[in-house]
Amino acid sequence: MNRIESWTRPNIRSLVPYSSAKDEFSGSDALFLDANENPFGTYNRYPDPQQRKLKTVLVKQSNISSKQIFIGNGSDEVIDMLLRIFCEPGIDKIGTFSPTYGMYDVSAAIHNLQVIKIPLDESFDILNADISPLISDERIKVLFLCSPNNPTGNNLNLNKMKELIESFQGIVCVDEAYIEFSEQESMANLIDRYDNLVVTRTMSKARGLAGARVGYAYANEEIIQLFNKVKPPYNISALNQNEAIRALENTDIFEVQRTTILEERRILIEQLAKNDLVEFIYPTAANFILVKVTDADGIYNSLLKRNIIVRNRSKQVPNTLRITVGTPKENQQLLKALKEIAS
Ligand SMILES: Cc1ncc(COP(=O)(O)O)c(C=O)c1O
Repeated sequence: MNRIESWTRPNIRSLVPYSSAKDEFSGSDALFLDANENPFGTYNRYPDPQQRKLKTVLVKQSNISSKQIFIGNGSDEVIDMLLRIFCEPGIDKIGTFSPTYGMYDVSAAIHNLQVIKIPLDESFDILNADISPLISDERIKVLFLCSPNNPTGNNLNLNKMKELIESFQGIVCVDEAYIEFSEQESMANLIDRYDNLVVTRTMSKARGLAGARVGYAYANEEIIQLFNKVKPPYNISALNQNEAIRALENTDIFEVQRTTILEERRILIEQLAKNDLVEFIYPTAANFILVKVTDADGIYNSLLKRNIIVRNRSKQVPNTLRITVGTPKENQQLLKALKEIAS
């Protein structure tokens, strides 16, 4: 038994997955009388359970083989599935670096798993964080690294992430939900080097498809096969598969939007720095900005009264608001409101 197998929950190791006729037959012009569908209509058929066309587009754009790609109903589903595959409820644990994305905690709570939280260092990085509790506890089965990190916005140190993947005896999930906004290189091309690395991505952020719910993971073939065993047979609707293909192929629109968001981020940072309510702007590599303000609760409520909703992250980082970069018009509205509140 290799180490990935030995880390897999025994019931998942022995699981016989559901298999549909669409799994076994890949042609399109056959007579389909296998799945009790209504024979009439446009979306009357179940979608391709293996999302072959969508994966072909991802393969073209990433140079990663389709056998190393899993598509989920948002990357939140990928996070949840990792815990279902590798963590025994009530016994195992996960590791995170705090503050970070809240769903790791929620998923762990759903699966009755303890979370070992390592504080990020003074720059919200892992470089000077004390990782010894992660290395000494063999019940920690999955470790989450979020880079760029939500809610702080910064990249995590690339070399330190590699070191951690090498030393941690379990699955390391690098959550790259915001990587398209960052100048740091992705870890996706390291999945051949590290058998325990899972890189998650999403169509919800830079790709503009949060409403559709499509996320994906890159990992070695063995881990992807485990995902495929556990996933509901038709987890990505035909509508979502088509929209994801359209969004990925529309590279011009993607580039224009990405560039606009980055330029708007620059303007927002420049303008926010001039406002007396703002005490500190944390460096960001994502499409949001974490801002330390004079009175986060008060400013949050004043914005709310003006129908502007930002995220109060004060419980994670004292007196902070997390602001998503909007359209140029939306950003101007926000800046105007903040000026009014300050005066
Ligand atoms: C770091 C991070 N990972 C994952 C997600 C979830 O993304 P998805 O919409 O693909 O479920 C989010 C959403 O805010 C996020 O911030």
